[in-house]
Amino acid sequence: MTLQVLETLPALRSQRAAWRAAGERLALVPTMGNLHAGHLGLVTQAKAHADRVLVTLFVNPSQFGPGEDFERYPRTLNADLEALASVGCDAVFIPAVATIYPEGLPPRTRVCPGPLAEQLCGADRPGHFEGVATVVLRLFNMAEPELALFGQKDYQQLMIIRQLVEDLALPIEIVGAPIARAEDGLALSSRNGYLTAAQRALAPALHRALRALAEGPGGTWVERCEGARQALEAQGFLVDYLTVRRQADLASPEADDSALIALVAAKLGSTRLIDNLCFTRKDAP
Ligand code: PAJ
Repeated sequence: MTLQVLETLPALRSQRAAWRAAGERLALVPTMGNLHAGHLGLVTQAKAHADRVLVTLFVNPSQFGPGEDFERYPRTLNADLEALASVGCDAVFIPAVATIYPEGLPPRTRVCPGPLAEQLCGADRPGHFEGVATVVLRLFNMAEPELALFGQKDYQQLMIIRQLVEDLALPIEIVGAPIARAEDGLALSSRNGYLTAAQRALAPALHRALRALAEGPGGTWVERCEGARQALEAQGFLVDYLTVRRQADLASPEADDSALIALVAAKLGSTRLIDNLCFTRKDAP
């Protein structure tokens, strides 16, 4: 089986029409490339849900803020194509910026995802989730998939995509996929490649901090989070946020909430890493 490489909207539309004519269900996996085992896991899971899997490779300028890493974001097209072929992906869409944004940048028509997008990563990266929601809606409209897969690694992003589909009545099923981690617990991310050897050795402390928060001794969540933040900062992290929220809506937990999630974003040098851990509350701080 060969991997189809689609670079234009007419090419994508014509492939989509052929699959539809054959009665085949399409799963979409949007990515920014520089693929790792987390991305490839999404493709493998997509194959279990659909007849065809389409991956998009597009480093989306509208979700990067000024001074962020848009220019230096790793672009590894040949390795990505090989990896996709090796996991049996059917097609890859690699659009030009002008295909996604024919009106130019900044995009004229944008999706504003509301309050959910203004907290956590949205507070640290203003406009980020507007850029994500805008590009994902455009990719959905171009590919017209029956379903789309997103990783729980970007939990807030996954929730914003679910909200997009619900609020705009998009006929697309959203499947969330578990976080793929390195053996030492670090969540796989294209940005891990920015880390020096010393930073890479420190980085799994993020995951350990989340586990300690979820399993650790009592105190209020605020106290526990503050303790974990101080421990991370003592090791050299600059913590953007470290917090416990409800899984369902990312609101602060009420006394009787048990389905919780610990979320962290922290910088090591200039590299910003995020991670999260879903857990069920055992005690009641
Ligand atoms: P990117 O960071 O390339 O991630 C693409 C998809 O892979 C996302 O759904 C992300 O959550 C998932 N992913 C990344 N690391 C993962 C890991 N360790 N385990 C499981 N899934 C993982 O997220 C984006 O791109 C962009 O914002 C995008 C949605 C493509 C819009 O531009």
